[in-house]
Amino acid sequence: MTENPQSMFSDGAAYERLMGRWSKKAGEQFLDWLAAGKGLSWLDVGCGNGAFTEEIVSRCAPASVSGIDPSEGQIAYARTRPGTRMAEFHVGDSQALPFSDGSYDAATMALVIAFVPDPAKGVAELARVLRPGGTAAAYMWDLPAMGVPLGPIYKALRDMDMPGPQPPSAEFSRREAMEALWRGAGLDEVETTVIRVPVSFDNFEDFWQSNTLPAGPHAKFVHAMPEAAREELRRRLKDSLPTAADGRIAYESVANAVTGRKRR
Ligand SMILES: C[S@@+](CC[C@H](N)C(=O)[O-])C[C@H]1O[C@@H](n2cnc3c(N)ncnc32)[C@H](O)[C@@H]1O
Repeated sequence: MTENPQSMFSDGAAYERLMGRWSKKAGEQFLDWLAAGKGLSWLDVGCGNGAFTEEIVSRCAPASVSGIDPSEGQIAYARTRPGTRMAEFHVGDSQALPFSDGSYDAATMALVIAFVPDPAKGVAELARVLRPGGTAAAYMWDLPAMGVPLGPIYKALRDMDMPGPQPPSAEFSRREAMEALWRGAGLDEVETTVIRVPVSFDNFEDFWQSNTLPAGPHAKFVHAMPEAAREELRRRLKDSLPTAADGRIAYESVANAVTGRKRR
């Protein structure tokens, strides 16, 4: 391999092909489900490169939007997005938000909860910064159910006894676990839903190229595997992926979403 993995990680086009295009579809369904009113003040926790923040701006006509993420590099990128010009961005952690109590109407975590070491603390912080009656909501690929778009690769690696890197709180991407977190934070009117995103590829090589671009921890793990193991992974995937007669591969990714209201 000649690519520099560090530069590939920051390659927006690679991330878009690996994950961004599917995350956007999930984010759109999530915001449709929330059906929040217009003119609200939003906080996007774990905003990363601002992809979901951009959806809030374009779909929710917010009065204001703040994004926060621990990664300085991601925040720097978020600040350059044309679609987030009205937003303000901060570097910081969901478990200790640098905002006053009762500051926001809506606070979200988009594809974040599984990465937070203490998710209960993160949700308590979401609730704290909301005004009474405000909405705390989140969605996350169902990781234990392999619902992430790279799910077939996760499953094949697990079957090979080579599980790749796991985020610290993967279990909290389950629907019941998210509901329990929201209730545990004292939120009212808690509801959950399942978001299904159709994922498709022209053929096996399109699947393989898209999902092994080194733009995330699992794809990097696959790149670092010994050649023989990588060939075994390809063989298992070819045998197991749902493939149509014309070679097209299509399956569904699944995310869980939760919402609740701060008591008035
Ligand atoms: C999969 S990305 C999702 C980014 C963005 N929300 C989106 O939908 O495109 C997960 C994000 O969670 C952030 N993150 C990890 N640990 C966090 C924490 N303790 N508090 C807040 N964000 C965190 C990461 O920096 C990363 O940007």
